[in-house]
Amino acid sequence: ALEHQAILDLPKTELHIHIEGTLEPELALELAARNGITLPWSTLEELRAQYDFVNLQSFLDLYYQLMSTLRTAQDFRDLMLAYLEHAHHDGIRHAEIFFDPQVHINNGLEFDTVMDGLLEGLSIGRERYGITGGLIACIVRDLPVTSAMDTLKALESRREDLLGIGLDSAEVGYPPSLFTEVFSRARELGLHVVAHAGEEGPASYVIEALDQLQVERIDHGIRCSDDQDLMHRLASSDIALTSCPLSNRRLQVVQDLRELPLHQFLEGGIRVTVNSDDPAYFGGYLAANYEALIDSGYSLRECAAFCRNGIEASFIGNRRQAVLF
Ligand code: HPA
Ligand code: ZN
Repeated sequence: ALEHQAILDLPKTELHIHIEGTLEPELALELAARNGITLPWSTLEELRAQYDFVNLQSFLDLYYQLMSTLRTAQDFRDLMLAYLEHAHHDGIRHAEIFFDPQVHINNGLEFDTVMDGLLEGLSIGRERYGITGGLIACIVRDLPVTSAMDTLKALESRREDLLGIGLDSAEVGYPPSLFTEVFSRARELGLHVVAHAGEEGPASYVIEALDQLQVERIDHGIRCSDDQDLMHRLASSDIALTSCPLSNRRLQVVQDLRELPLHQFLEGGIRVTVNSDDPAYFGGYLAANYEALIDSGYSLRECAAFCRNGIEASFIGNRRQAVLF
């Protein structure tokens, strides 16, 4: 119980959270009704039965299907505000939030509709809870590279409203090198760059993301522990890993949290952080991720190190970092 309060009180950042992954089944059904979208499941009970995932793809199938219920700027604002209420409860001070513009554009929405709704939510949340934040537009790697390029063009006019770009969705078979040109252009626009790598894919995908995409953080990166040279490289270059324990367990990347190499990462001087990924799908928001680690043998001191790493790995300026400490 003492640890529970300490976890809530630690000043936390969240650097790996997909806003669409905070869409709770209740809200998805409500939005489907509000927007006249027909889903294959009409009751909460039927929908809830779909959450036993066996791998990343089985999750993505449901995640993309429920995303089709998001239609208006108000939907995105409501989604963001629901997340920020959880974030506030969990003691999050700063959040860098992914979204998948390509999927919404393919669903027939305007990019500006999505941006305007999410930004309005962030702005209300900042006033209400004092949580700072920003948006990172993810490229969906199992869609064609031409579609990624088109998406980047759509982002250009809203460049000032974005922190950066990322790379997500099905990993194996879609190596980072496919997106070298897209990421090079994004960096020219002054955007921060991050990429999912080493979740289901091998350590060599992490190396590609560093060499070809020149990313500043690796999302997940759990497989980095397979490669000692890569571990040294991450430590000496201060490249952060945004790990997501409950996600890894629910998607069967590991069967038990004790298999995660987070102790090794800390001991190796790697800036590893703890995040919730898609909390509405994986059984808990950020504090629940920390508590699951405590239950799996991690100390409060290690949890505090994850929090400090999160502050240092964030894209907020040094002055604001000092305030968070
Ligand atoms: N991995 C890849 N794509 C995703 C994830 C993830 O954990 N969450 C949402 N899209
Ligand atoms: Zn993710």
